[in-house]
Amino acid sequence: MKVCIYNAISIDGFIADEQGDTSWVNDVKAYEKELSKNSVVIYGRVTYEDLVALEQFPFENIKNVILTSKPKDFDYRVAEFTDLKPEILIKQLVFQGHENILIAGGGLTNSTFLETDLVDEIIVDIHPIILSSGVKLFDDLELKVNLELLKTKKLNDGIVQHRYKIVREEESK
Ligand SMILES: NC(=O)c1ccc[n+]([C@@H]2O[C@H](COP(=O)([O-])OP(=O)(O)OC[C@H]3O[C@@H](n4cnc5c(N)ncnc54)[C@H](OP(=O)(O)O)[C@@H]3O)[C@@H](O)[C@H]2O)c1
Repeated sequence: MKVCIYNAISIDGFIADEQGDTSWVNDVKAYEKELSKNSVVIYGRVTYEDLVALEQFPFENIKNVILTSKPKDFDYRVAEFTDLKPEILIKQLVFQGHENILIAGGGLTNSTFLETDLVDEIIVDIHPIILSSGVKLFDDLELKVNLELLKTKKLNDGIVQHRYKIVREEESK
């Protein structure tokens, strides 16, 4: 099983500006490549609303799971909406046979998964932009997490992709 968080960020660590704008994100091919390695993608309700507005919902050829405290308010035909706790959701997906799970944001959703200790890797596509404020890659996170750099790749248009492994506490001793 591998659980990976993947987002595009500004060089100062934001995934969207104050208005939620992500029009500066420009790594579609890299994103599609990563999605294709997974059988399920999980994201938060706010990200879902943005994808709908941008006519990019759902991600094709992959199971889409959206976190919300009000799953009954949404249409279940094209995606699954759930209020399961992140650790229970991951266990359920693994039980269903999913081996590679991608967490696709936003900041709040990234944090709720990072807090579970079930995330193995973090990928960030660092875009050549400074936003100064906005939605943080990890919102409301109080943890300190050690990372090991696994790979760095130069993408098009000045974007740099870093892939990190999460170093568990027992590994860092
Ligand atoms: N740059 C990128 O790669 C990237 C990627 C993804 C998103 N984004 C941007 O990030 C912004 C959204 O980020 P965000 O942090 O505001 O929101 P988010 O994480 O997308 O969604 C937050 C919502 O998800 C639900 N949620 C999260 N954790 C939950 C849990 N443990 N249990 C139940 N529900 C849970 C809640 O929905 P309810 O309120 O319905 O209960 C919560 O309000 C948008 O602007 C989006 O475009 C950027």
